[in-house]
Amino acid sequence: MPAVPGPPAPPSPAAAPLLTPVAGRAPRSRRHSVGIWWLALTALAIAVVAPLPYLTETLDRLANEDADLAANYADRPAWVQAFFYTHIVAAGIALFLSPLQLSGRIRRRAPRLHRATGRVVIVGIFIGGAAGLVLSPMNVADEIGFAGFGALALLWLTFAAAGLRAILHGDVAAHRRWMLRAFAMTYAAVTLRLWLLILVPAIGDFRDAYVFVPFLCWVPNLIVVELVLRRSGTARAQLRPQSG
Ligand code: HEM
Repeated sequence: MPAVPGPPAPPSPAAAPLLTPVAGRAPRSRRHSVGIWWLALTALAIAVVAPLPYLTETLDRLANEDADLAANYADRPAWVQAFFYTHIVAAGIALFLSPLQLSGRIRRRAPRLHRATGRVVIVGIFIGGAAGLVLSPMNVADEIGFAGFGALALLWLTFAAAGLRAILHGDVAAHRRWMLRAFAMTYAAVTLRLWLLILVPAIGDFRDAYVFVPFLCWVPNLIVVELVLRRSGTARAQLRPQSG
């Protein structure tokens, strides 16, 4: 006689997709997929497009072409320029690979790939974040930039370190939460440039617009992630079997 299948087991946090859809909705809603693809494609685009000019032209040349941010670094000492290039490459690699980490399918079907890419992302964040912290007092937006970019760098390092610590202790649910927060910080490189696309034409001057982005590039990202985490936590609690 064929065995009668028992009731389905409640989903374990380890098996849950990173951005878990809310209970009651289709498991993979169209909105969810569009959101993931938007995050992945914009992250990949900025990870390539933002560092590219600095890797193909000298800072002097870019400064002569009126690139505000390059002009800020063209006359700096060699050690500052070294941190600048280190930041661009390491943070760029972290941003380029981060979308892979969001994929629940890759985590389930190729966990070794998830672990290998994750190590590179964490190293990229540690190096890119430390270099970003060093650059923060010299940024184009002065004190507000020091506060905004400095806080962003510290949170980026802290979230990634907490995510690493959690997985080394085998706590997959906490790892997922901390790495999502770290991704919100990584994605600040994208939102910063999206905000500038709106603010520069609206305000009419790059430097006047730039003072808004050191906080605007990451605070809304973090709020959105906290809301997603709260929603997925509620959904998981609703899925858990009631006791008594
Ligand atoms: C999330 C933490 C990050 C912090 C704290 C940070 C910090 C900084 C700072 C302080 C500067 C100098 C800006 C200025 O002089 O006004 C800078 C520039 C730059 N950063 Fe980051 N950054 C972060 C993430 C990233 C990521 C993920 C990328 C990946 C593409 C990136 C790519 C760049 C590039 C290309 C520049 C040169 C300026 C430009 O052309 O936009 N950063 N960053």
